[in-house]
Amino acid sequence: MKDIRIFKVTAVIAFVVAMFFGNVPSADAAEKAADNYKLYCVQCHGTAGTGKWVNAPYLAVAPRNHVSAKDMSALSDDSVFKAIKSGGPAVGKSTQMPPFGGILSDAEVSGLVKHLRAMCKCKGK
Ligand code: HEC
Repeated sequence: MKDIRIFKVTAVIAFVVAMFFGNVPSADAAEKAADNYKLYCVQCHGTAGTGKWVNAPYLAVAPRNHVSAKDMSALSDDSVFKAIKSGGPAVGKSTQMPPFGGILSDAEVSGLVKHLRAMCKCKGK
């Protein structure tokens, strides 16, 4: 009996600790993706994600419009993941889309894929 009670108490403590440290999938992951987008993507894709931004005039290729459901639904989640992790050339696109695999973990890249799907309000092909 006592063992079961200790187990229950431990489980509750573990849950509370996990909540505090963000190990339970929650709004935290989405927030982190939004922060990463602001930090690493807006200088080319823009704060609104349209691709019209300060660097646009200097890029030979226009950055993808992340809020366009038409453009974004033409890309699969896998290829979006690849483009972010390994850069434009990994998906046959421009080198002006840089690779982020060196600074973002796979989980963070997946978070960004989800963030982009929320921005375009669309699904991958
Ligand atoms: C230095 C400028 C630059 C930065 C910074 C940048 N991008 Fe891009 N991105 C581009 C350009 C240019 C393209 C268009 C490439 C093409 O169509 O050939 C692009 C294309 C893309 C595409 C579409 C790829 C495809 O297959 O069509 C995705 C998705 C993308 N970027 C996501 C991101 C994310 C997420 C970030 C931040 C982590 C980011 N980009 C940061 C310039 C940038």
